[in-house]
Amino acid sequence: MTSVTIVDVAPRDGFQSVKPFIPTPTKVRVIEALAAAGLQRLEIGSFVSPKAVPQLADLTDVLKTVRLPKSLRIQVLVPNRKGLDMALAAGIREISWVISVSESHNQANVRRSVDDSFREFEAAWRDAGRGAFLRFNLSTCFDCPFEGRIAEDKVLACIERVLAVAPEAEIALADTTGRAAPSHVKSLFETAIGRHASSRMAFAFHGHDTYNLGVANAVAAWEAGVRVLDGAASGLGGCPFAPGASGNTATEDLVFAFEHMGVATGIDFAKLLEAADLAYTVAPDQAAGRLRTVPRKRALAGFGAGTRGFAA
Ligand code: COA
Ligand code: ZN
Repeated sequence: MTSVTIVDVAPRDGFQSVKPFIPTPTKVRVIEALAAAGLQRLEIGSFVSPKAVPQLADLTDVLKTVRLPKSLRIQVLVPNRKGLDMALAAGIREISWVISVSESHNQANVRRSVDDSFREFEAAWRDAGRGAFLRFNLSTCFDCPFEGRIAEDKVLACIERVLAVAPEAEIALADTTGRAAPSHVKSLFETAIGRHASSRMAFAFHGHDTYNLGVANAVAAWEAGVRVLDGAASGLGGCPFAPGASGNTATEDLVFAFEHMGVATGIDFAKLLEAADLAYTVAPDQAAGRLRTVPRKRALAGFGAGTRGFAA
């Protein structure tokens, strides 16, 4: 049976634009519920300026408190050398470095040119990052909230630049605004994967569901050969520096779609829906996703024993 790995980014992308401060114990409960549902990978916060993203300023406390299975892989987002140093000092070994392909989104997000961001990444990773796993989050690969559609060549050039420093990186091409069409997602990944077919790197897809294309885009990425997909329980999420962008594609919608296609996720769907209900309570006005709202018995119908795997 084929399989796909879903990285739940609700504790980072999902929480970051929620305005009222989410108490640390609540964040910890959501993270532990996701781990209990069988997620194998989580992105659980960011080491960024607390002025830029006040909601995630308690990451050190979250990391100290949360109890997670040893097998769970956790990654933390960083935008600069300071973030990398903080993450390594906190014992994090999977680093999500973020840079945008488009100049104006990179400026809005991290207040630097794309070139300056890459120079900082290159120097910092050579100095300190080697030995850690690099998940590189390449934002605005398809569409920029300020510049519109992004040319494929720009994305391909950024991929080359990451791989020159970290040839074994996992690079997530992000549809930050959720405006990409499935045909665009498929063709960009086909080209990118074709170019790096013999390399040790891997691609991931980070999608948003703003225009209701999140699941279709994830399936398009999968058809192109991508085997790691980002989602957020209850569809929370959105970049505070990308006007008009809403939540990540809901993890529960992805799990339903892929299990229904016969692609194993390793996730317990009943427990995932419980975790999504909990995530929903954090920001009911921002949550989305469909499966959480389907009557539970019907949503679970067809899932096999232990609600892992679709039986019918
Ligand atoms: N973690 C924590 N604090 C950080 C930091 C980091 N990674 N990087 C910088 N800071 C602090 C500095 O120490 C400084 O603090 P001070 O004002 O108390 O002295 C302050 O932030 C400003 O630092 P500076 O280097 O001048 O950064 P800046 O103002 O040019 O902002 C970023 C650049 C990258 C730090 C900021 O834009 C940022 O954090 N962006 C992240 C955006 C984000 O998370 N977007 C959503 C995810 S894609
Ligand atoms: Zn995102």
